[in-house]
Amino acid sequence: MTLHVHPFLKWPGGKFRLIDKILPRLPHSPLWVEPFVGAGSVFLNVESEHAILNDINQDLIHLYQTLQREGKTFIDYAEQFFVAKNNQADRYYELRAQFNQSAASWLRSALFLYLNRHGYNGLCRYNRKGEFNVPFGLYKHPTFPREALQVFHQKAQRAVFTCQDYRSVLQTLEQDAVVYCDPPYVPITQSASFTQYSGHTFTWQDQQALAEGARALAQKGIPVLISNHDLKAVRTLYQGARIHSFLVARTISCKTSVRRSVRELLALFAPPVSIY
Ligand SMILES: C[S@@+](CC[C@H](N)C(=O)[O-])C[C@H]1O[C@@H](n2cnc3c(N)ncnc32)[C@H](O)[C@@H]1O
Repeated sequence: MTLHVHPFLKWPGGKFRLIDKILPRLPHSPLWVEPFVGAGSVFLNVESEHAILNDINQDLIHLYQTLQREGKTFIDYAEQFFVAKNNQADRYYELRAQFNQSAASWLRSALFLYLNRHGYNGLCRYNRKGEFNVPFGLYKHPTFPREALQVFHQKAQRAVFTCQDYRSVLQTLEQDAVVYCDPPYVPITQSASFTQYSGHTFTWQDQQALAEGARALAQKGIPVLISNHDLKAVRTLYQGARIHSFLVARTISCKTSVRRSVRELLALFAPPVSIY
């Protein structure tokens, strides 16, 4: 079994455990594109010469750009927040307030990493005012992910990071790219609200526009793979794509002991095969 590179962030919906299902479904290409990069678990394990990595979360992309540019100097700076006295609720809330008052800077990026590792379940949630509002996580010994940060820094040298809506990324692509899309999933139950990331709600219209974008790229010769829940509505949405469905063990409540299996799918929108 191949050992995979771990991301340095905890991220809701992270795809680390699905890498072996995702990678064999896309052909090798010099340009790897992820419009919803999150923690970058898939990118970290792809061999491509270049990558375009996008996410709508500004704090995430700013952290990546800082790490890409500054490497060890930033890693050393960020480590200062990972000390025992900062792993207490009152200190966490002070640093969270400091994060919310700071503009884009090294400090904000380092605190974003600190909050990710000390906040509840690695969640990333903002209130209506755009303030990060995840409660304290109560971890025994949050570790500083130095090695994973170093690996990310190295791998990021071949990447361009952008922070925009996924549509803008899809529209600019030309030949020689392969695209992996990991959008917020369509909720399993109607009562479950649409996933919110960085204060943005990913609506059914967003899901539809993504499927349309994938079809248009496939027509241009660019393969696009999309992950989502395996639901009837999703299969209809991805009509014409090659579907691969599988079970995934998931934690479904805040009690980490409650797990159940959920069906997910990978939909491949591939260029039309020419018939001669
Ligand atoms: C399921 S997560 C991706 C997880 C990632 N594959 C990983 O392994 O860590 C979905 C990501 O989509 C981003 N996102 C949500 N709406 C978006 C939009 N309209 N355009 C671009 N990114 C968006 C979120 O910020 C989040 O990071």
